Amino acid sequence: MQIKSRIRTIAHYPHEGIMFRDITTLLKDPVGLRATIQEITNRYKKLEIDKVAGIESRGFIIGTPVAYELGLGFVPIRKKGKLPAETRGRDYQLEYGSDRIEIHVDAIQKGDRVLLVDDLIATGGTAEAAAALIQEMGGEVVECCFVIDLPDVGGRLRLENQGLKVFALCDFE
Ligand code: PRP
Ligand code: ADE
Repeated sequence: MQIKSRIRTIAHYPHEGIMFRDITTLLKDPVGLRATIQEITNRYKKLEIDKVAGIESRGFIIGTPVAYELGLGFVPIRKKGKLPAETRGRDYQLEYGSDRIEIHVDAIQKGDRVLLVDDLIATGGTAEAAAALIQEMGGEVVECCFVIDLPDVGGRLRLENQGLKVFALCDFE
């Protein structure tokens, strides 16, 4: 509850009918921020992990301190056109239309065990594309870790059906 109770819900943002789960209220609270990063790092500190990858942009806020606490490096997975060196990309579906995420080709070495981090999983389309990119580069996705799961939207099942492990600190029905 230290975490879930600090997440604010904004009804009808950014579209009519969407209940937006807003982590800014969690992040601005020192107890909430610390609990979030500690709960995640406690889960992974004994596992063999080589890198943490985070998805733009809210995944950067969570993923970087997790990497720091685990004593690991951080790899950004960015929206199209933002990374300066050679990239590999993948298109994915949004609620309306599609988008593309990219990773630097030298970000993951073959055999790297990668923890994938984002703030929230809804349809799972973004995380699925990110995991596929990591795997394409020879990395192994140890687990996909989120602060929030929206189980009714089905993303967790989608990832699990692909053989990916999924963990979330809290659910919003
Ligand atoms: C949000 C969220 C996840 C993604 C989840 O990011 O942070 O990355 O959507 O949705 P999905 O499971 O249906 O793919 P968004 O693309 O809104 O970008 P932002 O983090 O920059 O706000
Ligand atoms: N990204 C996709 N769906 C979302 C939601 N309901 N709240 C916050 N971010 C989201």
